[in-house]
Amino acid sequence: MRRFTVVLVLLGVSFTAVARTQQSAAPEAQQPPQVKTNLGSDANGNPLRLAVKTGHVSNYDESKVRPFTLPDPLAMADGRQVRDAKTWMAQRRPEIIRYYERDIYGRIPARTPDVKWRVAETDAAAHGGAAIRKRITGTIGAAANAPEMNLVVYTPAQTKKPVPLILLLNFGGGGKPVPQDPPVAADILARGWGYATIIYQEIQPDRINTFDQGVIGVTLAGAKQPAADEWGTISAWAWGVSRVLDYLGTDPSVDAKQVALFGHSRLGKTALWASALDDRVAAVYSSCSGEMGAALARRDWGESVDDMVQNFPYWFAANFQQWAGRWNDMPVDAHMLIALSAPRPVYVTGGTGDQWADPVGMFQALVAAGPVYRLLGKKDVGAAAVPALDTALVAGDLGWHYHTGGHSATPADWKAFLEFFAKYVR
Ligand code: GCU
Repeated sequence: MRRFTVVLVLLGVSFTAVARTQQSAAPEAQQPPQVKTNLGSDANGNPLRLAVKTGHVSNYDESKVRPFTLPDPLAMADGRQVRDAKTWMAQRRPEIIRYYERDIYGRIPARTPDVKWRVAETDAAAHGGAAIRKRITGTIGAAANAPEMNLVVYTPAQTKKPVPLILLLNFGGGGKPVPQDPPVAADILARGWGYATIIYQEIQPDRINTFDQGVIGVTLAGAKQPAADEWGTISAWAWGVSRVLDYLGTDPSVDAKQVALFGHSRLGKTALWASALDDRVAAVYSSCSGEMGAALARRDWGESVDDMVQNFPYWFAANFQQWAGRWNDMPVDAHMLIALSAPRPVYVTGGTGDQWADPVGMFQALVAAGPVYRLLGKKDVGAAAVPALDTALVAGDLGWHYHTGGHSATPADWKAFLEFFAKYVR
């Protein structure tokens, strides 16, 4: 009986992430059960959570958001002001990357396993003949029991030349991959583009105490855990994106210079960080990424840093723990994470029913990334205040869509993204 219960609990934990992509914004509880951190929800259905270390409880009241000052993305640590693109690229940008590596997501170790890709399957008549589908398996390292990740690539059947592609970093249950198609798959193919999916848990499991598995496990080679400034799972997933880009660079059906990256929620955080680390990402679509994604951490709304260090410690470097209750002291905030992709286009979405992810805080971060885009000769998001719901802003190089609805990437979000990305496709 007891064993049965344990099994159910384990199953419950691993399925939550998948279910969460479709619907509600309730976070998983990964902390010890003796402290009740789930305080239910407020009158509007927003999750109320307690962060034990600081006593912080989720806020959804604008009058209780304490005023904050964002770090100036264009001021170097030594006080010098960045006045040209060259100084941004050569000095300030690397400085910000180092902060994120040291204090937030953790740096990817200098030596990581090689990945060998091989085409495992081809179907020339996918999507009713509209697409060619290939499954490509990447083996992480050379051990006999090396972990494998499966990339599924769809390219339009009719085209002879290499096509632009949208890479979806996707949820999935582990084990056999269940690729999730974007709701606009047919539109993507009709535009003459391709898309590809990779299941994030094949790169690194999304569970606490699994650093002996995935790419982190292979890299540690028996050592207990990464150093305090080394990778958590978000950096590991970002590493996986770079390995997929390595493969795409060798696939003659894909134009590797025109690969956009999509991720939702925790994978929306990952997409921003992966793009910061690898400029082969041509455009980013970060859906409902929330705290430590596109949402300003200094703005106390929905999920906070205090919740995050408690509930998802393994997503980050161990050093990230230091910021509980000290959000204003962090050398970075979400506007800087977004700006690390500049001058490349970034599109961010939020949902009215997903206040846990602080859509307003995400919009404000886009606005605050504007100075970097303008310095690089690009267009900012084009508005200072949150625009009307369900009205996409896609005229600039920073894009935005606030959908009516919950924690998901809706067909309307996707349609606006295709319009946004189309501006860059040659
Ligand atoms: C939890 C977590 C969020 C995360 C989300 C998801 O709700 O608190 O930060 O974005 O899970 O990935 O679905």
